[in-house]
Order: sequence, then C-alpha cells, then structure tokens
Amino acid sequence: MANVRDKTVAVTGGAGLIGSYLCDELVGAGAKVIVVDDFSKGRRENLKQIADQVIIREGNLEIAEFAHDALADAQMVFHLASRAYGVGYAAGRHYDILQHNERITNAVLDAVCVHKPEHVLITSSSCVYADDGPDTVPELPLFEGDPEAVNWGYGWAKRFLEQKALIAGRESGIPMTIVRPFNIYGERYNWMGEFSQAIPMLVKRVMDGADPVVIWGSGKQRRSYVHASDCAQMMALLVASGHSNGAINIGTEETICMTDLVALICRLGGLDPVLQTDTSRPEGRFVKSADMSRFRAIVPDFAFRVSLEQGLDKMIGWYRQTF
Ligand SMILES: NC(=O)c1ccc[n+]([C@@H]2O[C@H](COP(=O)([O-])OP(=O)(O)OC[C@H]3O[C@@H](n4cnc5c(N)ncnc54)[C@H](O)[C@@H]3O)[C@@H](O)[C@H]2O)c1
Repeated sequence: MANVRDKTVAVTGGAGLIGSYLCDELVGAGAKVIVVDDFSKGRRENLKQIADQVIIREGNLEIAEFAHDALADAQMVFHLASRAYGVGYAAGRHYDILQHNERITNAVLDAVCVHKPEHVLITSSSCVYADDGPDTVPELPLFEGDPEAVNWGYGWAKRFLEQKALIAGRESGIPMTIVRPFNIYGERYNWMGEFSQAIPMLVKRVMDGADPVVIWGSGKQRRSYVHASDCAQMMALLVASGHSNGAINIGTEETICMTDLVALICRLGGLDPVLQTDTSRPEGRFVKSADMSRFRAIVPDFAFRVSLEQGLDKMIGWYRQTF
C-alpha cells in the first residue's frame, strides 16, 4: 500500500463498521487520514486506537457544502458513507433509503469532480444483484431486472451510485475503484435493535438464551460472510493495485448453511439450545456467495486474516460487552 504513504486520505463513513477498519489500515500504511462521518451510526469508540492519528470532520454528507469542504484537501477518497441497516429496516422505507443515499452520492461525487483527488474508491453492494442470479455471483451488469427485493431502494441507490461514479470518473479522468461487498460483519457493529444485520441478530438471540432457537426456512440455505477487517484490507489492496476498470466483488466463495452457522455460534458461546427450523417462514434465495475470480486476478496473494470461527468468537465478545 505504498501509494497511500504520506497522502491525505478521506474516508467517508470512517467511524462505521468497515470504515473504521479501513482507517486502521490506512493509518498503518502511513496515510494522513480524515474521517468524514455524521456519527448517525458510526462511533468514536471505533477509532479509539488511532484517535490521535486521524482528523475528524463531523457532518452530514447529504449537504453539498459540507461534502465540498470536508473533501477539499483529500488526495484520495474512500467513499463508504451510506445508510446501511438490516433488512428489517428497509421494509416500507425503500424510498427514504434511496433518497438518503442519492443525496450523499450527489454531494460526494460533485465534490470529487471539483477537487479531483488522485483516486476514489466507491462502495457499492452485492444488493445490486437480482434475487434470481447464479449461486456464486460474478460481477454481473447492473440494469437488468430489479435488485434484490428486500433491499429494493438500497439496491437501486447503489446501482445509481455506481453508474454516476462511472460517468463522473470517465469525464473527469479520476480513476474510480468500485467494490461490491457481500455480507460483512464484525464486533464494531453498532446495535440497531430490530433493524440490525443478520450476524449480530443471531448472536444476540443465541446469547440471550433463546431455547429453542428458531431458524427461518429449511436452515439449509447457504450464505457467505467476511469479517469487516478483511473487507477493509481488500478495499485498500484494490486501490493500491490502481484497478479502476469495472466493479469488483468483495466476499468469499465459501458458504455455510444457516443451521451450521447457528450451531457454531452456540458452541462458541457455550450454549446448547434446541435448533428448530420453521419452513413456514421465508428463507430467501438458497445460496448466495461471491465469485472472487476478478479480485484474485488483481490481488493474487490475498489471504483472509479472520476465519468465520474467529470472527464469531469476536462477536460473542461484542455481545458480552454490549448487553
Ligand atoms: N456491512 C455490510 O454487510 C455491507 C455489505 C455491502 C455493502 N456495504 C456498504 O459498505 C459501506 C460501509 O458499511 P458498514 O457496514 O460499515 O456500515 P456502517 O453503518 O457501520 O457505516 C456507515 C457509516 O456512514 C455514516 N453515515 C451514514 N449516513 C451519513 C451521512 N449522511 N453523512 C455522513 N456520514 C454518514 C454512519 O454514521 C456510519 O459511520 C456502506 O456504503 C454500505 O452500504 C456494507
């Protein structure tokens, strides 16, 4: 990551789950890091280990003037700020989520086009993909069908973000790396109650002592998960490679079925509840994982630092600290 050394690098959403790990990576690589965040979900606590090494610019990136000023001196921009809650939040709020993200997209891309940093990373999402895609999803084109139904507004917002970034990048000449993370989790997660994401929800349910633990659907549906620190490392390595030619998945081909995932959480938490499946409940698509061929071709020597078991163990630590 020599390309960030001594550079002024802005991380929007830098106090959040993935953003804070990215700040750790960038500070470690010798960058001068500016965190741009409104702390609506991000936390100062996530940055405590680098508190004296980052500049914080607190404000709402929906506001064009704030985005313009906050990004003025950035030589590189990693754009992660977004309203990203679990699927429980999205129902009935698709338009609100779409508009919130659109306002951030417009303000950030306008600022970038004026200030012309050397490189920009744009964080999209695997939610841009349709529900009926292949099990292991390659970097499919965006505008066929709807994005996944439960994240309808968010998925469209990310599709628009990608497309606007492509056009802005091509016209301004600014290289833009676009990434599509799959399910990312980690112990810096800010608990959002019923709006929380899947792994924190499951860990809380198990650790609260639910017995039986009811798993929606057959329990055989398979998902893939990556720890936020690995996601951050993958983002930084992609930018270091200089890649700016098309979106790249960030995830893993490795999957685990829901029942095994819950069983693993129980084992790590030292609990032994009955696991019950409820086939009257929806289970979503049967398999979803990331085809990582493109990423591997760009960063061939990448290795994950946190296994799923280690990551879930950290989540149990998160539960014990949080509740
Ligand atoms: N976590 C995942 O599973 C996942 C998967 C795919 C894509 N992503 C994307 O990765 C990025 C980071 O996600 P995360 O999981 O770290 O989420 P997060 O909610 O922890 O981080 C987002 C950060 O953006 C900040 N933010 C939100 N609205 C803002 C605004 N208007 N102005 C300034 N700051 C604002 C929040 O305070 C937070 O710190 C997001 O763009 C998200 O859409 C995440």
